Amino acid sequence: MESTVGIGILGAGTVGSALIQRLVDDHVAIAAKTGLDFSVRRVAVRDLGKARAFEVPDGVLTDDPWLVVNDPEVMLVVEVMGGRDRAGDLVFAALEAGKPVVTANKELVASRGLELVAAAERSGVPLLFEAAVGGGIPIIRPLSETLAGEPVERVMGIVNGTTNFILSRMAEDGAEYGEALAEAQALGYAEPDPTADVSGADAAAKASILASLAFGAWVGVDDVYYEGIEDLSPIDMAFASEFGYAIKLLAVAERSAAGISARVHPVLLPVDHPLAAIRGATNAVFIEGESVGELLFSGPGAGGAPTATAVLGDVIDAARGVLAGAEVAPRIRFSPAELIRFDDVATKWYVRLEVEDRPGVLAEIAGAFGDSGVSIKSVWQEGAGDEALLLIVTHRAAEADQRAAVEAIAKLDPVRQVASVLRVESEEA
Ligand code: NAP
Ligand code: HSE
Repeated sequence: MESTVGIGILGAGTVGSALIQRLVDDHVAIAAKTGLDFSVRRVAVRDLGKARAFEVPDGVLTDDPWLVVNDPEVMLVVEVMGGRDRAGDLVFAALEAGKPVVTANKELVASRGLELVAAAERSGVPLLFEAAVGGGIPIIRPLSETLAGEPVERVMGIVNGTTNFILSRMAEDGAEYGEALAEAQALGYAEPDPTADVSGADAAAKASILASLAFGAWVGVDDVYYEGIEDLSPIDMAFASEFGYAIKLLAVAERSAAGISARVHPVLLPVDHPLAAIRGATNAVFIEGESVGELLFSGPGAGGAPTATAVLGDVIDAARGVLAGAEVAPRIRFSPAELIRFDDVATKWYVRLEVEDRPGVLAEIAGAFGDSGVSIKSVWQEGAGDEALLLIVTHRAAEADQRAAVEAIAKLDPVRQVASVLRVESEEA
């Protein structure tokens, strides 16, 4: 016999409307496979007058999200409206009322995760957020369950579909930045305000979640250093390709004896790295564990249908718990993180300089790197006279030392401009 589960959904935009369509169109198949009869009782939207791609009975759609949370027929709440404060208050209230919550909202989980996990624990109900990182890719459950006993050393991810789509279109088709961004928006990959995508803020929220789950230590979104792709130059994309690199926006979370760090920024990645082959809106997460070795998870990281698949999986998981009536213990516990300051994180830099080509220039530049304790790995020059370009790749050194070196170089007389600085992610030191 099937058991009816009343669902309330906060938001019916890209993800919410795809979820509602699945719950309606695949109702019979889902019931046959899971024994669960889902009934969408309430859906909150901002604008009741907007045309919708789905149909629900009269009275289900409301512009008051509190009606969704407080409806006694709503046994499980799905939050896909986005934002931090209002969504957070609604999720908190649902959990306090003993209702399981499924959310796709990484901004919310990364900023108020500890508070929400505590509320879920108090009420003995699940708080699930598989869709918050990597869209349709199963990554939250593998990290928090399958790999719960694994000493994870490093997680590197392409976790923003919009930026990977833009970088792929620019690198492969020579598309303009604005044109590629507009395409990503039209395809439903981008956040309502795409600044969060291109600035790296969206990926930083995901890095916070990945780091917290990988290391079992809470890494808040404010602990993640981030930079975006807005200032990337086509010149660097061309040089990267010439020298055997792809440029990707990566989220990197690492654990060493000194502590934990999490960061997001564009990197030059050797073309033979598995993440270099990830194109378009596809996301991928590469995990290095002490015992398990290397794992790669990849798939569609954005868009309504794939994200709704992850949300639906959580809904089914949470509904089984509701019907079993069992109290749910949190799947992962977080201890305070011992964080490494970003200034102390060791990275390799690629620096593009516009310089005068005359005797002694390279020696001055090399001297400035040396004075800051940064060792040069390779140097490449193009052009001559007043139009010379120097490309320098350094060995690994602390961020603060790399920055001090480049600040000193910018003041040297023959240096016309520090045209760009990017980090290089490769195995060697
Ligand atoms: P969206 O298309 O902008 O949809 C947001 C929905 O929430 C809309 O239906 C909107 O109503 C409703 N809403 C917003 N504020 C509201 C309020 N105060 N009261 C009632 N309803 C409100 O956003 P989305 O792309 O579906 O994303 C939703 C969440 O999923 C976000 O947290 C996002 O980060 C996450 N996510 C998105 C993707 C993706 O590919 N899009 C992937 C993974 C995770 P109207 O329709 O009336 O405007
Ligand atoms: N805007 C996000 C992206 C959606 O482009 O990846 C998935 O979180």
